[in-house]
Amino acid sequence: MTATLEHATLVEQDKHQLHGLHHPERHSNPFVVEHAEGVWLYGDDDRKVLDAMAGLWNVNVGYGSEELARVAYEQMKKLAYTSGFAGMTNVPSAQLADKLAGMAHPTLNSIYFTSGGSESNETAFKTVLYYWRQMGKPEKRTIISRQQAYHGITMAATSATGLDKYWKMFGLPLSGFVHIDAPNAYRFTGSVHDGESLADAAARALEEKILSEGPETVAAFIAEPIQGAGGLVVPPAGYFARVREICDRYDVLLIIDEVITGFGRTGTMFAVEHENLRPDILCFAKGVTSGYIPLGGIMVSDAIRAVIDNAPEEMAWNHGFTYSGHAAACAVGLRNVEMIEEQGLVENSRIMGDRLRTGLESLREFRQVDNVRGRGLLNGLELVKDRESREPDADLAGQVCTMAMAAGLRVRPLGNTIAFSPPLTINADEVDQIVDILGGVLDRI
Ligand SMILES: Cc1ncc(COP(=O)(O)O)c(C=O)c1O
Repeated sequence: MTATLEHATLVEQDKHQLHGLHHPERHSNPFVVEHAEGVWLYGDDDRKVLDAMAGLWNVNVGYGSEELARVAYEQMKKLAYTSGFAGMTNVPSAQLADKLAGMAHPTLNSIYFTSGGSESNETAFKTVLYYWRQMGKPEKRTIISRQQAYHGITMAATSATGLDKYWKMFGLPLSGFVHIDAPNAYRFTGSVHDGESLADAAARALEEKILSEGPETVAAFIAEPIQGAGGLVVPPAGYFARVREICDRYDVLLIIDEVITGFGRTGTMFAVEHENLRPDILCFAKGVTSGYIPLGGIMVSDAIRAVIDNAPEEMAWNHGFTYSGHAAACAVGLRNVEMIEEQGLVENSRIMGDRLRTGLESLREFRQVDNVRGRGLLNGLELVKDRESREPDADLAGQVCTMAMAAGLRVRPLGNTIAFSPPLTINADEVDQIVDILGGVLDRI
């Protein structure tokens, strides 16, 4: 079979798969990824593409790790899976829980494993409802989230998401989910009082929402440290410190969604470390296994853990997925986290992130490039009609990404923002290639 014929056959076979998040018409001739190595994707048609999105922000240790494949193989031979319910556990899940305990914050010492980010957020929402019932405040049920947030695709996670494009075709959000303005310095939609910093104004939006809903009804506030899929929104310094104070003042739990930002992405192991933020629940997924096998989870505070431990038998925390603490997934997760540490990938994320942002800044020679921002290897730039009006040019962003793909670079358009989130193993030469290819595309346009 020739490569071309094989490709045509695969495309026919693939028609039996539903591919979400884009219209089927835009899926007529997909790039069939055959294998991958480091930051490079190789198609079945011999195309080579630098994946500056690390899959979906998740392949932190890069593609093609024989070591992780070996760990999965060895663990699967020994014990691929067993239930974690009813007094049973397994070696890798216990070891990974122990490894993660206290890693993001000294008060986050209890881990519950899921199979991905949406399940993690779903678990967090149920846990805050549980917590408030146990605390004798069952009326505290409302979840506050932000515009431009992305928290996943299950019913509650979609409802917490602050993007209409994920709601309208499903009749969501569910009641009980409300949204405030994102702390978007470039396009803040809220009000800023005289003499008020943007951090204070954006945090005030939270306080006002808690007060308008009634603090006695608000269970939690959920936020990504840097908003990812909603358009790479980096909050101003001091925002989360204010958020923490407000949550404490009104007895509102703080859920931090580190599904993208965890495991080195922003130049620290967890993004909460940048400002020593103390979440009540931290949600993770993606980078915990670098995408080699599905895994996610939540870390809960010692205070929440105490409530679970001290509940009466009939009010036990009755929550559990079949695949919670999956042995093979946890074995891969454990080795993956060790590799991130041993290979200095958190530091590389910081150094290569600085280099990438410097390169992206140089693209401001094109008058439609503006608002280059990010942290570590989580970065974005906006394409605007002109810098004065800041009018977004999403069509141009889509066109640039399509042309970049044809030129061997995978980047993702998020509205008019182009996102960059390559594997944390990326080297200086590969960073420069991202900038060169993008510069070439902008030049041609
Ligand atoms: C911040 C954030 N939270 C949650 C999710 C949902 O994760 P999953 O797709 O694994 O369910 C995502 C996915 O991109 C995400 O970016």
